[in-house]
Amino acid sequence: MYKGILHSHYLVVVLFLLIYVIKTILLLSNKNDLLAKFSKKVKIAEIIISVLFLGTGIYLSTQLPLGGKYDYLFWVKLIMVFLAIPIAVIGFKKSNKILAALSLLLITGSFGLAEVYSKRKGERKEVINNELAQNDGKSLYESNCASCHGSNGKLGLAGAKDLTATLLDVSAINKIILEGRGLMIAINVNPEEANKIAEFVNGNIKGH
Ligand code: HEC
Repeated sequence: MYKGILHSHYLVVVLFLLIYVIKTILLLSNKNDLLAKFSKKVKIAEIIISVLFLGTGIYLSTQLPLGGKYDYLFWVKLIMVFLAIPIAVIGFKKSNKILAALSLLLITGSFGLAEVYSKRKGERKEVINNELAQNDGKSLYESNCASCHGSNGKLGLAGAKDLTATLLDVSAINKIILEGRGLMIAINVNPEEANKIAEFVNGNIKGH
C-alpha cells in the first residue's frame, strides 16, 4: 500500500510540475491565447491531479519515520507547496508573470528540499552510530531500525514489514540490513554491527 501510494505521489508530482512549467512558459512568453487554450484542455486533469497530489501527500506525511532531526525540512517543503498553490492561482488569473514565476520557483524549490531531506536522513544515522558507546544489538536496533519498524518491530512506517512476523533467519536479515531490499535502503552499519542487530531481531523480535 505504502509503495503504491509513494509511486503514485511521484507520478502525480511530476505531472503537476509539467503542467505548471508549460503554463508559466506560455505566460512569460506572452502566448496568452495558447495559455487559455491549454488551461481549458487540462482543466479536468488538473483538478484530478491536484486532489491526488494532496491525498497521497497527506497519507505519506503520516508515514514519516519517527524522531528525525531533519523533519523540519519536510515541513518547510510542505509550507512552500501550500504557499505556491494560491500564488499560482492568483498569478494565472491576473496574468501576473512575477507571481507565476514565484510560484514555480517555490514548487521546484520544495522538490529540491525533498531530495536534501532524504539525504540528511542517511547522514543522521551515521552520526548516531559514531556516538554509540555501547554497540550492542538492542541499542543498534533502536538507533537504526526503530524509526520505521518500531521498538517492538510492529510499527510499519514507510512501508516497513512487521518484524515479529518475519520468516527470515539471521543470515537473510543480515543481508537485508547491509544491502537493503525493495523500499528499505541499506543501513549504514559495519558487518559486525549488522550481525549483532540480526541476532537481536532473530532472538528478541521475531515471533514475539
Ligand atoms: C527507512 C525505514 C526503514 C528502516 C530504518 C529499516 N527498515 Fe527494514 N524494512 C523497511 C521496508 C520499507 C521494508 C520492506 C522492504 C521491501 O519492500 O521488500 C523492510 C523490510 C525489512 C525486513 C524483511 C522482513 C520480511 O519478513 O520480509 C527485515 C528483516 C528488516 N526490514 C530489518 C530491518 C533492520 C534490522 C533494520 C535496522 C538495521 C531496518 N530494517 C531498518 C524499512 C526500514
